[in-house]
Amino acid sequence: AAPALIDAHGRAIQYLRISVTDRCDLRCRYCMSENMRFLPRNELLSLDELALVADRFVARGVRKIRLTGGEPLVRSDTLDLVRRIGSHLGGGLDEVTLTTNGTRLAEHAGALADAGVRRVNVSIDSRDPATFRHITRYGDVAKVLAGIDAAQAAGLAVKLNMVALKGLNEDEIAPMLAWATERGLDLTLIETMPLGEIDEDRTDRFLPLTGVLADLRARFELLPDTHRTGGPARYWRVAGSTTRLGLITPLSANFCDGCNRVRLATDGKLYMCLGHDEGVDLKAALRDHGPTGLDDAIDGALRRKPARHDFRIAAGAAPATRRHMSVTGG
Ligand code: GTP
Ligand code: 5AD
Ligand code: SF4
Repeated sequence: AAPALIDAHGRAIQYLRISVTDRCDLRCRYCMSENMRFLPRNELLSLDELALVADRFVARGVRKIRLTGGEPLVRSDTLDLVRRIGSHLGGGLDEVTLTTNGTRLAEHAGALADAGVRRVNVSIDSRDPATFRHITRYGDVAKVLAGIDAAQAAGLAVKLNMVALKGLNEDEIAPMLAWATERGLDLTLIETMPLGEIDEDRTDRFLPLTGVLADLRARFELLPDTHRTGGPARYWRVAGSTTRLGLITPLSANFCDGCNRVRLATDGKLYMCLGHDEGVDLKAALRDHGPTGLDDAIDGALRRKPARHDFRIAAGAAPATRRHMSVTGG
């Protein structure tokens, strides 16, 4: 068998995130600037290339693959890719899933379920139409809510992702958890991370989740939960419900020691850390040297996986990377 993926810090890599497109139909203020330049479509990895890279990673021990973006459902062959990757389920791969903004989920939920997807993460930072529009610049929250309904109707488990933003949606966090509990959804709160230039100062919006958790514990009975998905969240269960509350705290409580993931970005590079600029060009390796070149490039990349990110949110501090989250895939 092909050698497993163990990095220089002894961490086993079993989770591959693939950003299938850097494009998105929204422009969330903490994610993108208003005027984004996207990669020309002919520079993206093709469907066949993406499937081939995924095959290699599964052969080398990856058990979970998540498609992200940008918005994965704006790329027309994303469903084909899900089907191709889904063919490995039960044969080494435990989960194929995606993180979506939900705007096109109503159309695609059934097909995703048919392709072997069992759960999806849907980004929704507010349920209030005006606040949602403000945060996303263009979004219509009704479409996202319809997407969530369709996903549940198709039998998919849904986890909501909410980036906690001071002065924008902090008052909606407790109501979002109450709603998630009524609707049988999980909810994960995320601290904003300094990736790429945006039009605003992230310092003004950063909300540490430590305080948020204390506030939620005063309003809900939250039981510590050892549930793990292979992602970075730490979970609590809302007593008397199936709802899990997850916290993703890159700034207030670092989780890099347990890192088990790498990211294939839209530019065809493999990034070993969300917070570092260095990536290894898998697209070039594959196109110039075929599958063997791919394995060598993956090995070389793995040796250089950093121990941790060093995100800082401070007035005047530059973003940790030039890339936006949408290129790297979160
Ligand atoms: P689950 O499978 O549900 O655990 O999903 P996940 O948390 O792995 O993925 P999702 O796409 O929902 O990501 C939620 C947030 O976690 C996003 O903001 C990601 O950027 C962030 N995230 C995922 N992995 C990492 C990581 O290695 N480092 C940091 N700093 N953030 C991460
Ligand atoms: N910091 C934290 N989360 C972000 N997301 C996008 N950009 C950022 C950022 N700079 C979130 C999205 C989505 C998830 C994949 O990442 O809201 O839920
Ligand atoms: Fe699009 Fe997601 Fe970025 Fe919002 S956070 S602009 S939905 S990629």
